Amino acid sequence: MAFTKTKGASFQKETDKMDFYLRSLSLHTVRNNYRTEADNAVKANLAYPDYLLRLVEQEVLSKIDRSINRKIQIAGFPQLKRIEEFDFSYQPQLDEKLIRELASLHFLNEKKNVIFLGPPGVGKTHLAIALGVKAAQARKRVAFYSAEQITALLAANDLSGLLGKFIDTLSRLDLLIIDELGYIELSKKTASLFFRLIAKCYEKSSVIITSNKPFEEWGGIFQDDVVAAAILDRLLHHSYPFFIQGKSFRMKNLMQN
Ligand SMILES: Nc1ncnc2c1ncn2[C@@H]1O[C@H](COP(=O)(O)OP(=O)(O)OP(=O)(O)O)[C@@H](O)[C@H]1O
Ligand SMILES: [Mg+2]
Repeated sequence: MAFTKTKGASFQKETDKMDFYLRSLSLHTVRNNYRTEADNAVKANLAYPDYLLRLVEQEVLSKIDRSINRKIQIAGFPQLKRIEEFDFSYQPQLDEKLIRELASLHFLNEKKNVIFLGPPGVGKTHLAIALGVKAAQARKRVAFYSAEQITALLAANDLSGLLGKFIDTLSRLDLLIIDELGYIELSKKTASLFFRLIAKCYEKSSVIITSNKPFEEWGGIFQDDVVAAAILDRLLHHSYPFFIQGKSFRMKNLMQN
């Protein structure tokens, strides 16, 4: 009999055999649930195809869940934030309708960028992460970096001769998030590497950038007005810029304590 002997495996019981096969096929949810669901099926007088369908559906749902969790983990968010947790009444001048539209992720298909500018604590990182989480939940490829991290990685990859490959990988993401541009001034060399990254992503993938500096001051971030203008030109061509002017949410929490 084909099923009684399996190379490298010997079974005491039929259930061991079942466990082995389901594990080999990575059907972990079916493996966990099939006995309980069999009992349920008997009680509910369920036909065998319905029992099987229920198990297969459970497996598919848990595989989708696992793939979403993996996407969220791979993205490297510093914390998880959600649009639903954002108190729009605290930033009344922010276009809530547009933010909610962005959460439907059309901007990714259109390869458009999103830029959040504003002083500390107004929710720039929160909104960037929240859009990133939505994208990961839609099983898009997302990566989150602080400007400091990404520029350090660009410089390191340049030194080791792997810059082209690194930039290619980043430009193949659906969404690249770069947080806190402007808190640290870049060297001219790093600024030119950053330009290469943005130029590669242009019209190919979406980028979200948060910055505490208005566009007029980006020349200072990159120590070069020409490079700053070239970066801005590409970022802004197809983009949703937000200028958040409100008060720091961190202060709100401080006042209440
Ligand atoms: N409108 C809001 N509703 C709910 N939570 C908010 C809101 N704005 C900010 N927060 C929370 O306040 C904290 C600070 O927000 P966030 O980190 O997004 O600020 P930021 O604009 O990125 O500031 P910084 O420039 O200092 O990085 C976070 O915990 C964030 O979740
Ligand atoms: Mg921030």
